[in-house]
Amino acid sequence: MTGRIPQSFIDDLLNRVDIVEVIDSRVPLKKTGREYQACCPFHNEKTPSFTVSPGKQFYHCFGCGAHGSAIGFLMDYEHLEFPEAIEELARSVGVEVPREAGSGKAPDHRQRDHYALLEAVARFFRTQLRDSPHASRAVAYLKNRGLSGEIAATFGLGYAPPGWDSLVRHLGSDRQTQSAAVELGLLIRKDDGRLYDRFRDRIMFPIRDRRGRTIGFGGRVLGDEKPKYMNSPESPVFHKGRELYGLFEARKANQKLTRLMVVEGYMDVVALAQFGLSNAVATLGTATTPEHLERLYRTVKEVVFCFDGDPAGRRAAWRALENTLPVLRDGREARFLFLPEGEDPDSLVRRIGAEALQKKTVDSVPLSQFLFESLCQQVDTRNVDGRAHLVELARPLMQKLPDSAFRDLMLDQLAKLSGLQLKQLESRVFGKHPPQQSREPVQRPRDSSRSPVRTAIRLLLERPELSQSIPVASGFEDLNLPGIGLLQELLEISRDNPHLSTGSILEHWRDRPEAKHLAKLVTLPLELPETGFEEEFRGAIQRLVEQRTAQRTEQLLARDRGQGLSDSEKTELKQLLLMRHPGTG
Ligand code: UTP
Ligand code: MN
Repeated sequence: MTGRIPQSFIDDLLNRVDIVEVIDSRVPLKKTGREYQACCPFHNEKTPSFTVSPGKQFYHCFGCGAHGSAIGFLMDYEHLEFPEAIEELARSVGVEVPREAGSGKAPDHRQRDHYALLEAVARFFRTQLRDSPHASRAVAYLKNRGLSGEIAATFGLGYAPPGWDSLVRHLGSDRQTQSAAVELGLLIRKDDGRLYDRFRDRIMFPIRDRRGRTIGFGGRVLGDEKPKYMNSPESPVFHKGRELYGLFEARKANQKLTRLMVVEGYMDVVALAQFGLSNAVATLGTATTPEHLERLYRTVKEVVFCFDGDPAGRRAAWRALENTLPVLRDGREARFLFLPEGEDPDSLVRRIGAEALQKKTVDSVPLSQFLFESLCQQVDTRNVDGRAHLVELARPLMQKLPDSAFRDLMLDQLAKLSGLQLKQLESRVFGKHPPQQSREPVQRPRDSSRSPVRTAIRLLLERPELSQSIPVASGFEDLNLPGIGLLQELLEISRDNPHLSTGSILEHWRDRPEAKHLAKLVTLPLELPETGFEEEFRGAIQRLVEQRTAQRTEQLLARDRGQGLSDSEKTELKQLLLMRHPGTG
């Protein structure tokens, strides 16, 4: 038996993960206004009715009714049990799942063995840098590249000895260890069943996850052999599109990180750190993925991308820009540093020093500038045709931006460059495909019932923080109406946990019959502008308070006619009558 997972941990976990990231990595999503859409993975369809709300951290399919939080999605999509889905999410953000007392054996011992094995292998490579008969060559290589012993230790650098079976022999004959090492790509099994080392005569860079656990390796040759770098393959614990080399070390070196630099290579990260610039991370031989970006921006507000100044580097920068646009919200900033011909951050920092490089990053090109300059280079803005073309080029990019002050400013800038009035431009950019709607509007059920309880619940699900806008004891608590208990509970949870998203709040109802009802309410459209939410909510609560006043008054009046009232009841009735007819008492 394993112990229960505490609800507070689940709340916390759902706070850390982003449902968009979780779903998008499995079912690619398209942004449409504030929400994301895709063809539903749970039923067959040609036009997308599967919608993911980043604000609510909740998904819903208007076609088949599937819905839930990130946990629910993993359960349905990957056919996981509830605890397995939690484990998977926890792993993605690098935390361990706690169990309440009574917990038995952890379910995931295989995964745990993987981490232990990777750590043991990292240790083996580190000691080889000291003990291998060939160590002096490796050490000389690192020295020659200007790395100190200290920085090598910080990054846990090691050495995989030459030969085909150094690691094979080190790991011994245990079958389970061997097959784990194969699964992790440390050893390779030949057709005849024999094993050999993947990494031979290479400088080893352990790749660590956010918690500092080794999840894979990159290995560099000492000379000019090919391939220059060899990386661990994807494995149950290592996903290239998700991990950033150096992020753990950067967080460790800086109490408070405000800016991250994204560079290309392992050596760039290590060399920059050697020079005191300990905020660089590298993608692992892949382009910057949306998952990387979410991870970067969950750590800092400002990201500086370093690219080669050549055409290939500019193309890569443009791809990074396109992936960055959708995540630019909440004051997030992106800048681009284009390196001089033939340099990488490693060579540059050695040539000009840390201070000058630091200054270059601070003065790097803001995303807005890179975007408009690139577009303007493609058209001739001196004539109308060119300016119209500019708007067309900019349109899909503007549509990627979340609704924000930044988007407004970008549109302003586009208006200036194109000479279009802002109003015209807005309808050009968003008019034909307004961001709030999908191209083929799906049938949404209408909200027919407008009882105040329902309205209040609906609004709380939309904006849990509305719970803070009314007094704790509002005076409707003992009202005898369907749904009052639910409303109360919802108020309490959102009040006690002010940062919970709708998706997390609904997790509190998992396995309870009301869950379905609540999920249905979440997806009912609100025919109300956002600015009116609070007033509507308070109005609904006010109506409940009034109903409660009326109900209690009736009750007391009836009792007065029958058995009579106690003194305190008489006082209460007087007050109630006063509240009902203010000014006439
Ligand atoms: P680079 O070829 O730019 O190398 O590859 P580098 O980082 O400057 O390395 P040094 O300075 O010669 O040691 C950049 C990144 O691309 C991936 C690695 O992640 C590398 O850090 N790469 C490169 C590979 O995965 N395999 C390769 O064969 C080459
Ligand atoms: Mn280099």
